[in-house]
Order: sequence, then structure tokens, then C-alpha cells
Amino acid sequence: MKFSNSLFMDSLVNNRFPKRKILEEYSDYISYIEDAYKFGQSHVFGWWNELTPSEKKSLLEQISSIDFLLIKNLFNDAVLKTTQVRQGVLVPPHVIAVPKNDAEREIAERARQIGEKSLRKGDVAILTVAGGDGTRLGINGPKGTFPIAPISKKSIFQLHAEKIIAAQKRYNTRIPWYIMTSKNNDSATQNFFKFHKFFGLDPQQVCFFIQGMLPVVDLDGNLLMDSKSNIIMSPNGHGGVLIALKEKGILGDMKSRGIKNIFYHQVDNVLIKIADPIFVGHHVKEEAEISLKVVKKCRPEEKVGIVVYIDGQLHIIEYSELSHKDMCEKNEGAALKYNAGNNAVHMMNIDFLEKVYQMGESLPYHAAMKKVPCLGEDGGLIDPKENNAIKFESFIFDVLKYVKKSVIMEVLREDEFSPLKNMEGENSPASTKQDMINLFGRWLQHIGVSIPTDSHGNVVGLIEISPCFALDQEELRNKVDRHLQFYGNLSL
Ligand code: UTP
Repeated sequence: MKFSNSLFMDSLVNNRFPKRKILEEYSDYISYIEDAYKFGQSHVFGWWNELTPSEKKSLLEQISSIDFLLIKNLFNDAVLKTTQVRQGVLVPPHVIAVPKNDAEREIAERARQIGEKSLRKGDVAILTVAGGDGTRLGINGPKGTFPIAPISKKSIFQLHAEKIIAAQKRYNTRIPWYIMTSKNNDSATQNFFKFHKFFGLDPQQVCFFIQGMLPVVDLDGNLLMDSKSNIIMSPNGHGGVLIALKEKGILGDMKSRGIKNIFYHQVDNVLIKIADPIFVGHHVKEEAEISLKVVKKCRPEEKVGIVVYIDGQLHIIEYSELSHKDMCEKNEGAALKYNAGNNAVHMMNIDFLEKVYQMGESLPYHAAMKKVPCLGEDGGLIDPKENNAIKFESFIFDVLKYVKKSVIMEVLREDEFSPLKNMEGENSPASTKQDMINLFGRWLQHIGVSIPTDSHGNVVGLIEISPCFALDQEELRNKVDRHLQFYGNLSL
């Protein structure tokens, strides 16, 4: 809906549905209704006289949840700001590289022992952010419900759950799992877990919590609606997890369970090594506040956030904030200088988060242009061909500006990072399934099993290894030997 002439709309709304009438009918909502008018958003009452009493109530409830001043400011900022190259002195971070020699392997082994000890003690909780709308994937339902396993078609949620079950068995512990949803997908997510009996987990150890929402505006800053009584709201970004952890009492719940550190990941990374003991160990050993896993960029222009120090402070910056020169700059060894790509896997120390809350600071919001179906002025639904909307999101990594102690650990992309984002092409169901098959194929090849690959290195055939059968190559080695025959379809 693009109300280019909002004065006209205001007068239309006032003539047809005088504010006084709405106010008289619903006096409890006076201040919110006043705000909607004051901030030029009265068009949301454009179909007031067509609404049933319950629709009116629901619209007013929505309006009462909106901070109109915040939205106005965010919109003004978005209009004023174009993406700029970051100022300041950029320095690549120190990264713990993937071990290449015995000394480095020894360091990783020591980290593993520390991590395993921490896991055994029950110090670590898993936090999965699953509140995104998954617009690009465009499925009907939460992304975690997507049937991604190559043979069994297990969902992403089931694979995560089985990794937690396997880790619990290995470390003889219980690992609490916190899942952030949004109002848009919370009940579908919870019903999916109930329907599948929590995939064998104890329901008491799985905790869902809902993140905050913000309205979506058009390119003139007007709130968009998708029905005559519904304002389009969108989750407030994965940074919303920091607000929700506090506001929903999740941090307190974690503390009461004795949790000291959080293993954070995004729901859509199908190769995630949940509770990776080496990563946990490095983080614990260094008493880090937030730790990050990174992968090497696959090309200079890859659209991935980059971990850098700017004027001495750790940051993750968008690829668009790097100048082209910085993007392509090489080290003496010919590798990219700014090569630490963020794969959104973090360890977060609970005491550090408490400190951030005490500072009373909030994360900034970033504006993103999107195509969002919405109501037109005539009340009909429009499916836009071009970007017509702005969503506001906060990013978890903006908290890095408060971090003084951090570990940055490099991992191999092909082993640990394959996010499901799109229906076709890169990061699609086809590519993420192939990445899983290739990983399992490499595990088997290392054991000596003959696995055929094509000219791109992709396994020819289907392989699936359940996390409950083997969580990693070492565990697999104890269960199968090189005599195993692969006939093009293997499920373990
Ligand atoms: P993306 O930014 O890729 O968003 O989120 P998305 O919702 O998955 O997909 P698009 O952009 O709409 O196509 C990365 C991760 O952060 C979570 C997502 O669920 C995903 O795990 N996320 C994102 C949230 O939990 N909340 C948000 O508000 C945004």
C-alpha cells in the first residue's frame, strides 16, 4: 500500500471514520490511537467501518504494541543513510587456524579436553535462533521444519535435536536447548516439536521463547497492512535475541540451571557442529566474552560479514561496508587480507551478557529493502515485483563493540557451514543436501571406504549418517571399517 498523499488519506479517514468515533468506542486505547494520528499513520483505520468488533480490537491491540516514534526515527535514518564504507583503521583479527601440524593439533586437543569437561559439567546451553521469516526460501512453515536429510528426509530441527541427544550421551550430561521463534512461527514450531515428540528429547529441556516484532513500512514510511485489520509485523532481527533473553527471563532460567556459556547458532546451517568441544574449550580457556567461528571467504565479493578490528575494537562488518580495494587486498602469501567470514556460530558468556544489560545500551537497527505482499489503497492484495517495503532488524554481532576478550576460530566451510536460504541455486535444498552427502563421503573416504565423486568433487549417490550413529569421523571410525561397500545409497 503506497499512500503517497497521506494528508489526503488523513482527511479521508477523518471524514469517513472520525477519530472521535474510534476514540469514543475504544477509550482504553486513546493514547495509542492519538499516536497513530500524530505520526501520520491514520490510514491503518482506513477500513474501520468494515471491521467486526473482534477485528477492531485486534487492530487496536497491534497499534498499542507499536512504538511510533521509534518507527519514524528508524525510517528517517534509513532514508538519510546510504551504505558507506567503514571509516577507521581496519586490521585483520588473530585467528586460530585449522590445525595443520602436530603442534597445532596438540593445541586443539587440549582445547577439546577443556570443552568436554565443561560440557560434562553441564555448563553449556544451546541457543538456536529460528525466528526469521525465511522469505527467500518461501516455504509454508518454519525453516527448521524443512525435510532436508538426503535419504530419511528428517527435518532440520530433527537433525539438531539428534546432535544434542548424541552429545548428551557422549558427555553423560543434559544440555538445555533454547529456541527463539517469532509470533509469525512460534505455534507452528512448537506444534512441530509436539507432533514429533520432541524427537526423543525431554520436553523439559527444550525452551521456546518469542522475539520482538516491528512493523514493516513502505518506501514513504507508512505502515503496511496485509488485511483490513492487520498491520504487517516482522521479527526484529537475530539481534532481538539479546532483548528477548533478558525480557523473557531466559538468562535467569539459564543461570538457575547452572549454565555459564551459550553455544549460539542459526537454525538454517545444516552442517552445524552443535556444542563443538574444541570451540567450547578455546572459549572457556581464554575466558572469552564472545567467541566466533569463521570460514575463509570463497571469493573477494562473497556476500558474507567480515570479522575485523576497527581502531582496535572487534567488529563484524557487512561485505558492502568494505571498499573494493580492501575486499580484494591480498597478504604476502596471496590469501585475502580480510578473509575471516562470519558463519554465525558463537559462544557467549552469560556474565558478559549481564554486563551489557547493565550498561543499558541497545543494539542499532539496520534497514533492509524487501518485496512484501500488502494491501493496496482499494483494499486488494498487491504482490509487488519490486522492493516496496523496509524491514528493520538488529544484528547479534553489533554486541561485539562491547567485547574485550574473544576467540576467533577458523573452521572448514565444507565441514561446518551450509545454510539453507533459497529454493534454487546457492544455499538451496539441493546444495545443502549435497554438502551433507559430501561431508559423510569424506568421513568414509578417510576410513578407507571407496566413494565415487564427479569432476566437481561431489559424491555420486546418496549417503546419510544419523548423528545418533556417528557425530563425527572419529566416532564413525569405531563403527565401520574400510571394507564397507558403497552401492550408491547408504544410510547409517
Ligand atoms: P536470515 O537473515 O537469513 O533470515 O536469518 P531468514 O528469516 O532465515 O531468511 P530471509 O532473509 O527472510 O530469507 C539468519 C538466521 O537468523 C534467524 C533466522 O531464523 C536464521 O536462523 N533470525 C533472523 C531470527 O531468529 N530472527 C530474525 O528476526 C531474523
